[in-house]
Amino acid sequence: MLTPQTISLVKATVPLLQQQGVAITEHFYALMFRQHPEVRGFFNPAHQAAGTQARALAGAVLAYAAHIDRLDAIAPALPRIVHKHAALGVRPEHYPVVGACLLQAIRAVLGEAASEPVMAAWAEAYGALAEILIEAEAQVLRERAARPGGWQGQRAFRIARKHPESELITSFYLEPCDGGPLLEFEPGQYLTLELSLNGETVRRHYSLSDAPGKPWYRISVKREAEGRVSGWLHAHARPGDTVQVQPPSGDFVLDRSAPLTRPLLLVTAGVGLTPAMSMLEVVAPTGRPVHFLHAARHGGVHAFRERVAQLAAKHANVRVHYLYDQPRPQDRPDSVGRLSADVMAAHLPADRDVDLYFLGPKPFMQSVLATALSLGVARERLRYEFFGPLEALQPA
Ligand SMILES: Cc1cc2nc3c(=O)[nH]c(=O)nc-3n(C[C@H](O)[C@H](O)[C@H](O)COP(=O)(O)OP(=O)(O)OC[C@H]3O[C@@H](n4cnc5c(N)ncnc54)[C@H](O)[C@@H]3O)c2cc1C
Ligand code: HEM
Repeated sequence: MLTPQTISLVKATVPLLQQQGVAITEHFYALMFRQHPEVRGFFNPAHQAAGTQARALAGAVLAYAAHIDRLDAIAPALPRIVHKHAALGVRPEHYPVVGACLLQAIRAVLGEAASEPVMAAWAEAYGALAEILIEAEAQVLRERAARPGGWQGQRAFRIARKHPESELITSFYLEPCDGGPLLEFEPGQYLTLELSLNGETVRRHYSLSDAPGKPWYRISVKREAEGRVSGWLHAHARPGDTVQVQPPSGDFVLDRSAPLTRPLLLVTAGVGLTPAMSMLEVVAPTGRPVHFLHAARHGGVHAFRERVAQLAAKHANVRVHYLYDQPRPQDRPDSVGRLSADVMAAHLPADRDVDLYFLGPKPFMQSVLATALSLGVARERLRYEFFGPLEALQPA
């Protein structure tokens, strides 16, 4: 239990953190990577370069400080962090490393405001948050390992098949080398691949794009320009190659308890359709109305078109709308350009009683959020994922 004095000292730092939060976390990463190079490999350099990871950590630290007297307010934000940490293999012994560097960074950036009592309060507060995360992460790991087909840490998977879905996206079918059963996942969850490239371990998350319950896990990967892991998977990985995989993780999952009469909108752009494919596979046979809205540049980079057409042909509850913003002459999208309010409205019931899951590049997501809100969809019915650290999403 934190003392009232600790709580008020930490809360008093909130205005400073608001101004300096990102500076603190940027300083923190520089310090930690210098003092503890052993943890560097956990962190994605692209997220460091883009600043998204520093902003995500700063946001979490700030939210914690602001709500330290009523932690239930930040509870909904924790599963995402817990799942990410669990997926990456963050261990309890890493917490003191992060804590020591975070406190040094707070002291360096706050300057005179970082008095001894303030620093002592922050040390205690960090310890309390670390304890919450460590316990929650241990629970996730325990539960996963205990379920049929479950495991903890790395498990070797063989690339059984490699199948191009578009000019840019290729699916990889992964089967466990031990021949054992597979842990059932929730549509929307991701796998974490650990590869050794040029002697360095690199970790990347990939959403599961097929229905659960198959004897494989399927991931579908976009080839990124200069991308290390996607580049390796596209250019070098061959059927028969082995990759190390951490169990399915993630809290961006289809709520299967939603009423089957409530329409589901899956609104995606580019490679953001991968978790939506898994959701569509599961929902289509249930009879629940499902609207699959997908934006791509043109037909050449549009993945899974055939599979979605099969599902729509078989299940009358599936409606599909494709938007291309740079169609080729031979393309026949349902509309050209960006997702407009008119297109979205055509897929919404009059009472706006829907669940809307969306994923794509950040500007697309901001626009989906703004459009859905302006059309009267309730904020709590909107769910989204980022293919990177969580970012603030302001309606465009
Ligand atoms: C929950 C989740 C689910 C995901 N699901 C999918 C999915 O289903 N399919 C999919 O394709 N992807 C998915 N991703 C993204 C995926 O994890 C990788 O981020 C993506 O494949 C790029 O990794 P890479 O190693 O190929 O590229 P990286 O090597 O990480 O590079 C990515 C980009 O950043 C640039 N870059 C790299 N390092 C730096 C640097 N130091 N400075 C400046 N720029 C740099 C590169 O040039 C490149 O353009 C998901 C991510 C998350 C978090
Ligand atoms: C109280 C302590 C901590 C807090 C509040 C915290 C918070 C966060 C947050 C908010 C994210 C972003 C989640 C997302 O949106 O995807 C994150 C990701 C991450 N955290 Fe932590 N974390 C803590 C401790 C640790 C520790 C001890 C480690 C171990 C080294 C660690 C390693 C990571 C890594 C590797 C990522 C993913 C980074 C990336 O995408 O590049 N964290 N954490």
